[in-house]
Amino acid sequence: MESLVIRGGQPLRGDVRIGGAKNAALPVLISALLTDQDLLVANVPHLRDITTALELLGRLGARIEVDEKSVIRVNAGKLISRRAPYELVKTMRASILVLGPLLARFGQAEVSLPGGCAIGSRPVDLHIRALEQMGATITVEEGYIKASTSRHRLQGAKIVFDTVTVTGTENLMMAATLAEGATVLENAAREPEVVDLANCLAAMGARIEGAGTDVIEIEGVANLTGAAHRVIPDRIEAGTFMVAAAVTQGEMRLHDVNPGHLDAVIVRLRDAGAQISVSQSELSLKMPERPDAVSISTAPYPGFPTDMQAQFMLLNCVSEGTASITEHIFENRFMHVHELQRMGADITLHGNTALVRGVDQLGGAQVMATDLRASACLVLAGLVAREQTVIGRIYHIDRGYDCIEEKLLQCGADIRRVSDSRSPRVHAVQ
Ligand code: UD1
Repeated sequence: MESLVIRGGQPLRGDVRIGGAKNAALPVLISALLTDQDLLVANVPHLRDITTALELLGRLGARIEVDEKSVIRVNAGKLISRRAPYELVKTMRASILVLGPLLARFGQAEVSLPGGCAIGSRPVDLHIRALEQMGATITVEEGYIKASTSRHRLQGAKIVFDTVTVTGTENLMMAATLAEGATVLENAAREPEVVDLANCLAAMGARIEGAGTDVIEIEGVANLTGAAHRVIPDRIEAGTFMVAAAVTQGEMRLHDVNPGHLDAVIVRLRDAGAQISVSQSELSLKMPERPDAVSISTAPYPGFPTDMQAQFMLLNCVSEGTASITEHIFENRFMHVHELQRMGADITLHGNTALVRGVDQLGGAQVMATDLRASACLVLAGLVAREQTVIGRIYHIDRGYDCIEEKLLQCGADIRRVSDSRSPRVHAVQ
């Protein structure tokens, strides 16, 4: 296993290129299951979750090629399996996205339930209920969701999601493209990644209206064709680098971004004192002094993204003043709090709200990444901490950040990756 070793204190200055969005690339690659022709996907980030998705497509029998420009060609002309196995689904919940396309095209699909996750707790119940409304028969047997259609095709339906669900909206949008008749998705997710998938599906011949609003209408067609699609920039990677520049009181220019997808983050960083300028595909941020604390409350897009909550928690840990962080999307998404406290942060938890009082300095510590965005927050903490920080279990960060240490090094950070047998021991906590 590997760790990241960081010595904090340097203001980050430099240019960073933002990669393609993981959460858009995953459904876009999986949408290749809807056609027997080639889907060409550009701007796919080099991430562990993408490798998992490609491995899953390969197990189903899809042919995958990568050209010299890193464009990924997926061909699902001759599939050999309709089953997403446990060992892949447990490492990536987004594997559930194969359910809708397989069911729509072949009338049959099996997807393992993610490990330790019964339907009803961190569930996929909304995906299942909506597919049942489209005529699918679904059972859960031996830890697998087994879905089939008795009729030749899924049937269009009016679906009202109880909760806004991003992958639920994507799964149903894909299923509906090949259904018989019209499907209306109400209370649909409005995330840019949903819009990106809709654009890809439209290029494949799907008839979709309303993506980006909370009502999406899909008129089913008999077949989809091949297409070429370029994935949108990763707004969460961009947001994470913006916070990195802000907390180190540095200055960074981000290239290949879509500032329009970052409105909620930009507003809060300006409130914190950052000077931000944007153009069509670039964004510059300069933080001239210690940031001011800013309260946030997560919400579905266009609200403040839950995937930026941990990074803003860290921002507040080192800011002037006190702020509250309220998490509305996921329970138990405060696992980074205990690690930040070990570095000297002053945080009090009250249910789904954290009260953060800014401290003058964090100290280095040996900490553990617990999930993808929590690990990004620990990297940011390491960049501002006084002593050396050693972050273990960094496979979490490799799920979602492409070359994070190279990009930070380029901006002057003192960061390196070591294998655990060589990782230094750190005792200082404050
Ligand atoms: C996606 C993103 C993830 C982001 C999240 C919220 C991908 C691959 N992942 O996750 O990075 O943090 O959106 O923006 O795009 N829920 C149910 N039943 C369901 C489905 C969801 O109760 O069937 C609940 C969830 O427990 C959660 C809320 O709905 O409380 C939102 O979850 P959802 O939008 O589905 O998250 P993901 O699509 O898994």
